[in-house]
Amino acid sequence: ACIWVVVPAAGVGKRMQSNTPKQYLPLGANTVLDCTLGQLLSHNKIAGVLLGLGSEDSYWPDSIWFGHEKIKTFVGGVERADTVRLGLDYLSNQLGLKNDFVLVHDAARPLIAHQSIDDLLANTNPCGGILAIPAKDTIKQSLETSKPSCVEKTIDRNLIWQAQTPQKFMIKTLIDAIDYAKSQGVEVTDESSAMELSGYQPALIEGDTRNFKITLPIDLVIANALLMHEPL
Ligand code: CTP
Ligand code: MG
Repeated sequence: ACIWVVVPAAGVGKRMQSNTPKQYLPLGANTVLDCTLGQLLSHNKIAGVLLGLGSEDSYWPDSIWFGHEKIKTFVGGVERADTVRLGLDYLSNQLGLKNDFVLVHDAARPLIAHQSIDDLLANTNPCGGILAIPAKDTIKQSLETSKPSCVEKTIDRNLIWQAQTPQKFMIKTLIDAIDYAKSQGVEVTDESSAMELSGYQPALIEGDTRNFKITLPIDLVIANALLMHEPL
């Protein structure tokens, strides 16, 4: 069976400090988003991509994938979760998909390997799962959220994983979970957070360190270097 992917690409990339939204910055021969879509569209289990774009987006028509038959675009929302929610609406209302799994994958994670998608799809946890990387640094908990701060304690590193995307959940369950988080005033930065808030325990599937999120300027330098070094 094939699976749809919701790709939120409606952010402005504030932390990248570039006038061009980071998903449209150059990576290899094309852009970050082109690279992300290329990896998804070339995977044989992907039915199609629902791409959430910013309301003012003027870059998408220049994409190498513009007009691709497997891509449907929609206008995203204010927060990432709003964009994802609108994509899920389309799957549920327009395509009638409810009791099917969906993948959600950040436009800003271009170096997603097919092997990682395979591993996520092969996982049989009924509530779904996420790609993640075991922490390699020693992890400190701060006394407070503001900076500067001090160390309160050291967290057992063996319990710490860094979440990535894609994340895989049942469409209907994820819609309910995102709506519940919103109703509670909780801002979630990934789908798993919303699911956890509703009491689910998604599977942790070990991913690939190359699938980091392009967030800061240095991330683009690293991604370009990785692409030059060896293809995914
Ligand atoms: N995203 C989205 N809709 C939003 C905000 C973010 O579709 N309202 C997307 C981004 O385009 C990105 C992904 O969600 O592909 C992950 O978000 P993030 O890395 O935070 O991107 P930005 O919000 O664009 O960056 P920043 O937080 O630095 O402004
Ligand atoms: Mg953001």
